[in-house]
Amino acid sequence: MDHISLDRQARAILTGNDRGGYTVPTAGLYPYQWNWDSAFAAWGFAQFDVERAWTEVETLIAGQWDSGMVPHILFHQPDPGYFPGPDVWGGTGPIPSSGISQPPVAATFIRAIWEQDRAAGAARARALYPKLVKWHQWFMDWRVENGAVCITHPWEAGRDNAPDWDGAMAGIDPVGVGDYTRRDTAHVDAAMRPTKYDYDRYIWLVQMGRRLGWDDAALKAQNPFRVADPTMTFILMRAHRDLAEMGRTLGEDVGRIEAWIATLERGAEALWNPDLGAYDALDVKAQKFAGCVSNASFLCWYGGLDDDRMRPQIARVWNAVRYPVPSLEPASDRFDAKRYWRGPTWAIMNALISLGLRDQGLTAEAARLRRDTATLIAEHGFAEYFDPHTGAPAGGGTFTWTAAVWLAWASPSAGDD
Ligand code: GLC
Repeated sequence: MDHISLDRQARAILTGNDRGGYTVPTAGLYPYQWNWDSAFAAWGFAQFDVERAWTEVETLIAGQWDSGMVPHILFHQPDPGYFPGPDVWGGTGPIPSSGISQPPVAATFIRAIWEQDRAAGAARARALYPKLVKWHQWFMDWRVENGAVCITHPWEAGRDNAPDWDGAMAGIDPVGVGDYTRRDTAHVDAAMRPTKYDYDRYIWLVQMGRRLGWDDAALKAQNPFRVADPTMTFILMRAHRDLAEMGRTLGEDVGRIEAWIATLERGAEALWNPDLGAYDALDVKAQKFAGCVSNASFLCWYGGLDDDRMRPQIARVWNAVRYPVPSLEPASDRFDAKRYWRGPTWAIMNALISLGLRDQGLTAEAARLRRDTATLIAEHGFAEYFDPHTGAPAGGGTFTWTAAVWLAWASPSAGDD
């Protein structure tokens, strides 16, 4: 199919998943507004409807809690097809929500949207800026450990069942979790979804957060799950840089943001696993590395690090599959080509990795990843994720963020290499 028809299809996916002011990731499986999905959706909308792009991020930030946290799910309208819903989470913000956050790609895409038309977006950027600063401050206050950014639930990283969390998950005994009915496996083949072992622990962590009223200090003291994560660390590092740029344009003092960047730059070294020769997740409680070369390990360039140590790693992982970048290196004994974040390729992660490679001057690699992702989508559609060996689509179909990164980055219409 030619790219003009694919552009048309991608726009139709975004408008089809639009629920009026916010976009669902895909109908059925994910019927609410997800945090980083929504930021990607805005980037996609900005390619043909800038007004709608602004509304998307404004609706997301409207869910911000008093603490500054912006939740990972906003439950705008109850939908019995999803579990765990608002009654299980018991979020305490202005809109029914979950109690955890997600990778803060928003500032980066808000800056990109604003740069399309500075004058038209000025008032909206000015209104969003202090809210983004407050959200980033919340991360720095509650999630940073030795300069690396931690997650407090596997869902917070956006890489739900990545093997990065296996060690910390094994330390949880999900006693008293009770009976519940999963809804995800009614929409998608169970072999492509997390296991019951994982789900019991996900729900146990949600129940604990709710019991503690999602109080950050209480959770920090009592939550056994605290893992320093390359996804969060590199994405927040990048988001701080883009937020600082916005602040400079607005004439704000960005000294505080510059200090955060310096903290995370130093802290990234805490994620360097010398035995693996790669950035890795670190279980902060047990002080143990996960031992995973994942697609998040390759976000170092996106974070803004000019780090040659990861170049042989990306070459190795890239050459092991037909459709890069797999979410886990195929040589790992935990690799599973179809199971979500334990092997499949995700177009959104490829977009972030490629933007980082480009910014660090690795333009040939950046262009190759863009082309490979365009081929994958052109051959196999706008799926949630893909088998890295065969390209077979997996998970949900007509997926918002896959369509969004097609429009904003992968499509030949999105620019020259
Ligand atoms: C899954 C993904 C997460 C995403 C959500 C909605 O939970 O792991 O990253 O935000 O689905 O697409």
